[in-house]
Order: sequence, then structure tokens, then C-alpha cells
Amino acid sequence: MPTISLPDISLNCFDSGDGPPLLFVHGFPLDHSMWRHQLDEFSQTHRVIAPDLRGFGQSGVTSGTVTMEQFADDLAALLDVLGVVEPVVFCGLSMGGYIGWQFFKRHRSRLKALIQCDTRAIADTPEGVANREKLARLVLENGTEPVAAAMLPNLFAEATTPARQAAVEETRQAVLRTSPDGIAAASLGMSIRPDVTADLPSIDVPTLLIVGEEDRISPVEEMRGIAAAIPDAKLTVIPNAGHMSPLENPDAVNAAIRDLLATVG
Ligand code: MLT
Repeated sequence: MPTISLPDISLNCFDSGDGPPLLFVHGFPLDHSMWRHQLDEFSQTHRVIAPDLRGFGQSGVTSGTVTMEQFADDLAALLDVLGVVEPVVFCGLSMGGYIGWQFFKRHRSRLKALIQCDTRAIADTPEGVANREKLARLVLENGTEPVAAAMLPNLFAEATTPARQAAVEETRQAVLRTSPDGIAAASLGMSIRPDVTADLPSIDVPTLLIVGEEDRISPVEEMRGIAAAIPDAKLTVIPNAGHMSPLENPDAVNAAIRDLLATVG
């Protein structure tokens, strides 16, 4: 996969297919490979762009704190370097969704439609902030193993099938190979992300919300509330899936994405 040089960072980026641009933005603490079931299918009809965000996968790392605003600006800079001038369909999962809200606020003219999977609009509670700070210290002191152990049980619906067990193991490997500095910086960035609830009524692009029916991190009822607040939004609940719905039930997620693309191109 090519490495794309931005002014202050290099991002590893999947970029394949011709047609309207479709941008996939991964969750925490993962990389572009979490979209593997979407990349092949949609690159038949679209130009599919799926970077590893700053600090993740094979991309460059900055330590300290990386905000959701910074990630959104990185994506706009990436589209500039890739020569993508047409507005994109943005598809983010969880932290990718937090970045999606900021992409709408800061780069509205580059956005054709929004697909927000398994994500939240509210900010962290004080307890949530303390947990993010704890996780940042943990990964810097002890590496990625305890992060994988803490996070994996919450990401998936029950691992009852061999395919699900394989997805859990692949996700564990993705966490283990992530840079501790990158994980700490994004954890601290998420801890200071703004509450965007008041912005939802101003979202004026077609929006698809997707949530696994067993998502414990961004539950169905919470995403139903987000859908109700956005004027042109539709919510699709994915059966047999938790927080990682695009990996857990790709057929249902891809069908929902296909329906949205059929209306917006
Ligand atoms: C993610 O999947 O990106 C994370 O669960 C987001 C979070 O920790 O809030």
C-alpha cells in the first residue's frame, strides 16, 4: 500500500477503484484492515480510500495528544494530496465516527454523505476521561498486550462461530501491533473530544447510522437518539453483531451502505 506524505506526517493508505470517492475511517486502536469486507466490494464501483490514521497501522506516529479535529484535518490533507476534489461519502466507525463529526464541522464542502457506524455524539464522562488517561499510562508503561486484553471483550458480540473467533483474533493482532505512542495520543484525544449533540440538527447531508444490535459501547438506543436529531438520517440495526459490525456481519452492513450509495452516487 502506498505511503502518502502530508506536510507533517506520512499516512499508509489503501486507494483502489474508480468512481465516486468513498472514504473509510477506522476505529480505535485498529487500522484500515478492519474494513477488509468493504474494501473489495466497494472498489468495484467507487474509488475507495482507507488510510491508517496518524499513530496507527503503518502510518507515522506523533506522541502527546492527537485530537479528533487533527485527525479530520489529516483526512482533508490526504484528499488534497490524492487529488480528490469531488465531495466524499465518509464512512467512520466509533473513533472514526467522532472524526466524522469533526470532518462535517471543519470540511463540510468536501462531504457528500455521512455513514456513522457504532459511534457516539456525547463527550466522555469524568469517569470516562479518567479511564482514557489510565489507558494512555498503561500502554506507555506496559505495551499493547493489556490494552488488547481490556478492549477485546467489549468489541464483539459473543464469539460463537469460527468466523467470529477468527475476526476477534485478527483484531487482537491489529491492537498488538499498534504503536503505544499512537494509542496513548488518540486515547487522550478522545478524552477531550467535544459533545456534538447540539451540532446534529445542522447536519445537512444524507446520513446513514449503522449499529450492531449487541453493541455495548455505542448502544442501539443511543444511536436511535442521534438518528432522531439529524434531519436526513436513517438508522440500520445490524443483527448478530456488536461494536465491530462491519467485521461481524459484513453482508448486512454492505447492503445498508449499498442502499445509501444508490441514493447519493
Ligand atoms: C472505537 O472503537 O473506536 C472505540 O471503542 C472508541 C472509544 O473508545 O470511545
